[in-house]
Amino acid sequence: MKKNAKGLEERRHRIGYLKKFVKPGKIVEFGCGKGLVLEFLSTNFPKSLIIGIDKSQARLEELAKKRLKNVIPILVDITNPIFLNKSFDTALFIASLHEIFSCQGKRKVEESFRIAHNVLKDNGTLIVQDFLKPLPKLVEMGFRNITTHKRFLRFAAEFKARKVRFQKTTNRVRLDIAGALEFISKYRSPDEADWQEEMNETHFFFTKKDYETVAKKTGFTIINSLKLAKDKDWWSDIRKDIEFEAEYQWLQLVLKKTKGR
Ligand SMILES: C[S@@+](CC[C@H](N)C(=O)[O-])C[C@H]1O[C@@H](n2cnc3c(N)ncnc32)[C@H](O)[C@@H]1O
Repeated sequence: MKKNAKGLEERRHRIGYLKKFVKPGKIVEFGCGKGLVLEFLSTNFPKSLIIGIDKSQARLEELAKKRLKNVIPILVDITNPIFLNKSFDTALFIASLHEIFSCQGKRKVEESFRIAHNVLKDNGTLIVQDFLKPLPKLVEMGFRNITTHKRFLRFAAEFKARKVRFQKTTNRVRLDIAGALEFISKYRSPDEADWQEEMNETHFFFTKKDYETVAKKTGFTIINSLKLAKDKDWWSDIRKDIEFEAEYQWLQLVLKKTKGR
């Protein structure tokens, strides 16, 4: 998880898009981390009962320090079904599916959708926000300083999720857009432990079609699908180090559990 101020601002902005789709009542966030989304939900839906699930004790301890009144944290793996069927009005996966994909594989992503489907009441809402893999395309990326260039070479050597193939020119590289975006989303890792974690994680794992296919296969109807671009401030900060034309996007999918499925 990114800890710099621009990154945090950007995440808060993106979380704002959830508001009009959340059905109040009983809400569960799968993969809540330190509780940025839960803070938002707790403030905007004060009468709801909100459960946050995460497998990281350290992150849940950070969440506990926030003392959110209507929030209950539970330390468990998302892929363990622990709730009764049809008990929630809204379920959310916010920036957690790419981690499930990276550590546990595509099958567990599908299983997570099924678990969310089971725990939702009929007509309940599932909201997904995560990175959006672009269609394959060769792009060029330039480096404005040696530190960033060296960081890229380290990334290409150490990224374990898949091989990063690139061609070198002076001060520039040519590579597939997903590799470029992986680098851009990771190169400001604040410390070595975070860097090591990021080297095992792929962010750009599913295209829009991949998300929609899993959603339909697991019994959801798509209500709303929105591409969320990273904001201009975030990009202008990145462009101090990197010359790069494309933008990178997130997907917000709002899904409904159809009655009887
Ligand atoms: C990138 S963080 C996002 C946190 C929060 N949703 C947010 O947007 O600020 C992803 C979180 O998902 C959790 N996570 C990943 N896989 C998980 C799993 N299988 N079970 C429970 N939590 C998981 C991680 O521990 C991490 O805290």
